[in-house]
Amino acid sequence: MAYFKYKGIPFSPEFSSEETLSYVENDFQLLDDDIVNITYPKSGTHWMAEVLSLIQSQGDPSWVQNVPLEERAPWIELDEDLKIALKNPPPRLLTTHLPFQLFPKSFLHSKAKVVYTLRNPRDAMVSRYHFIKGFKALKDPGTVEEFMERFLRGEIDYGSWFDHVKGWVEMKERANIFFITYEELRQDLRGSVQKICHFLGKELNSQQIDSVVENASFHKMKDNKMSNRSTMPENVFDHTKATLMRKGISGDWKNLLTVAQSERFDRVYWENMCGVNMTFPWE
Ligand code: A3P
Repeated sequence: MAYFKYKGIPFSPEFSSEETLSYVENDFQLLDDDIVNITYPKSGTHWMAEVLSLIQSQGDPSWVQNVPLEERAPWIELDEDLKIALKNPPPRLLTTHLPFQLFPKSFLHSKAKVVYTLRNPRDAMVSRYHFIKGFKALKDPGTVEEFMERFLRGEIDYGSWFDHVKGWVEMKERANIFFITYEELRQDLRGSVQKICHFLGKELNSQQIDSVVENASFHKMKDNKMSNRSTMPENVFDHTKATLMRKGISGDWKNLLTVAQSERFDRVYWENMCGVNMTFPWE
């Protein structure tokens, strides 16, 4: 299915509409006690939604075990999820892949807290290359080479990784944004959870933190039907072709990209990222 563009950014008509995007940008009211999970796709969105859900429930796993992730932390730009977001009682957990310029304008006057998770774009690209194959409505990714070129040009849902990251990094001086990487979560999940709790002003005791870490582990999430997206209907997603909880590692891009492709990726990366006032673990 073809993409449509909203203010220059590609979206899939299957999931989002111009009406929803315009409403979210201009009219959606963020509340001061909202927590917003923001990522570029395939950067650890579900993982962070699980961590934030478990922090919200003070380590009690019953919420993540009984309520689907998209109901706990709905994507505000998706037509169906937005309805849930508008009905959920505060304090709300919200998720989005929106670039900063399309994020609710109400954010500028709100104390809502944003957790922005980044991942090595090479791994986000490879993860997406595999995941897209499951969506019946999305364009087949084609060869790795073709998909990589589209990714580097930003001709893909939610546009360019570089623009997304640069747009959000510009907000980094705001006290209500916290940046973290997928790589840090992988390296030290417990330490990351503690930092996130500190940012959110949530005091969890040691046992509660242990429970967050245990229940947000790759294996627990892979087995949790409420979090692993195995309940996506067959007419939307072909579960024989792809899975959300695929490998859950850093550096899998090395198994897919040739040396020439990786050199080309690096060139485009630095053309776009030199001058960005933040450093990342993959640099
Ligand atoms: P891979 O495809 O590389 O395995 P998103 O949630 O943004 O769509 O990202 C999905 C990616 O996050 C997938 O990467 C998935 O395996 C990984 N992921 C999800 N939960 C995870 C967890 N608990 N630990 C590590 N990786 C996780």
